[in-house]
Amino acid sequence: MKPGVVLIVDDNVELAENVAEILSEIDGRPTETLLAKSAEEARAIAQRRGDALDVMILDRRLPDADGLELASELRRHAPLAEAVIITGDVKVESALAAVGRGVFAYVLKPFAPPDLVRATSDALARVALLREREQLRQRLEQSERHHREVVEAVPAFVVAIGASGEILLWNRQLEAATGYTREEMLGHQAVAIVGDGGDQKLPVKGGGHRIARWRLADVPGPGPERITYAAGIDVTAERGMQLRTLRAERLAAVGTLAAGLAHEVRNPLNSANLQLQVLRRRLERGRSTPEALLPVIDVVHDEIRRLEQLVTDFLAFARPQSLDLKPVALAELLQGLTEQLRPEAEAAKVVLEVSIDARTGTIEADAERLRQVLINLLRNAVEATEERGGQMTLRALPEDEEGFVTIQIEDTGPGIPDDAPIFDAFYTTKATGTGLGLAIVHRIVQEHGGTIQFESRPGRTCFSLRLPSHTT
Ligand SMILES: Nc1ncnc2c1ncn2[C@@H]1O[C@H](COP(=O)(O)OP(=O)(O)OP(=O)(O)O)[C@@H](O)[C@H]1O
Ligand SMILES: [Mg+2]
Repeated sequence: MKPGVVLIVDDNVELAENVAEILSEIDGRPTETLLAKSAEEARAIAQRRGDALDVMILDRRLPDADGLELASELRRHAPLAEAVIITGDVKVESALAAVGRGVFAYVLKPFAPPDLVRATSDALARVALLREREQLRQRLEQSERHHREVVEAVPAFVVAIGASGEILLWNRQLEAATGYTREEMLGHQAVAIVGDGGDQKLPVKGGGHRIARWRLADVPGPGPERITYAAGIDVTAERGMQLRTLRAERLAAVGTLAAGLAHEVRNPLNSANLQLQVLRRRLERGRSTPEALLPVIDVVHDEIRRLEQLVTDFLAFARPQSLDLKPVALAELLQGLTEQLRPEAEAAKVVLEVSIDARTGTIEADAERLRQVLINLLRNAVEATEERGGQMTLRALPEDEEGFVTIQIEDTGPGIPDDAPIFDAFYTTKATGTGLGLAIVHRIVQEHGGTIQFESRPGRTCFSLRLPSHTT
């Protein structure tokens, strides 16, 4: 511990030296004593050593000043020092006046050395306490400033939110990003800015907004109330990028579709064109009979029908109508379908087997669109097996634990290569196919909340549909 510093101000040099002698050690601890013969000298010392001064001992009557007044003057330089006044004035009022001016103690002349030692010792103890408190205050202030600087400097948005949702802190990053100052924002409701976390619009002064991604954390405050801290980052650029990528992907998809459609349209158009040229030539020659012309017209007619079908299919895929969901008795629907398709299968020399579990029950579906799905799958199976005289099976399994009914369409055809994108629009390996069949199937099944999968190897291909069953 460093020695206490005591300033003694007295024009009586001998007395002052005596006092210095008496106070050279207090409570076993050495003291540094400084002597001033006049107010003038005292001022000079206070200016030089102000902060270090602990106790000032002043004679009440100095030739060039009043001790009391000098004490308060010196305190401006030595704010923590305590004053002890030595006086021969016994009047009570003067003692009160001294205390009133913030003088620590008052020692009457002639004094016994222990009186002065006690007064000085008490003053030193008090100053030590004050110094300690001051140090603590400074340290607290420093730590507070440090934390504030961290919050300000951290490269993120930080908002502190009080118990009633008001903004308590708005950091510099936010000021910079929004143009709204701390003063403008403090006290406003934070919910308009941070919502309940996640991506939120961050208003910008002068119009527009940025996108901030927030995370909230509750932190116990200094009092009983909790403070919520919201930390956010600016994701405007990232979001913009995502949107642009999405748009680019969509445009690319539209491009692919358009190319596919154009390709599909061109074939029947070409063919119809050629047939019309044939027709014109025959008519110009004027030798053909109407009977010879009719087949040409039929071909053109067929091509136009193909075009019509293509447009219908394409729209079914590209612009799906809303579903008309109703409970559908599945067994009945499947039975009807097999009857409808049997002649086609027989013509292609394909054996059609049907196995429908009696517990299949009802499902929630748009019957017309479900029929479209199954016809597409069954036709594909017929087309895969014809010429080989194969076999195909239509199977319906009862509802599983997850509430789904499974329908399977299996064939003994050549199988599907692993990497064939069969669900993509316009993917086809058939001379007259459009490649829209499975794309439409996929879309409708998804719209029903179901799934479609297939397993395939040469000699066995099986498509499995899972559809949610009807819950009452
Ligand atoms: N059961 C199957 N066995 C083998 N290949 C299949 C089977 N089902 C589909 N494919 C393959 O998937 C492709 C796409 O089928 P999709 O039904 O989408 O179009 P498509 O049958 O070619 O033409 P569309 O159905 O428009 O007449 C077919 O061309 C075929 O190569
Ligand atoms: Mg098909």
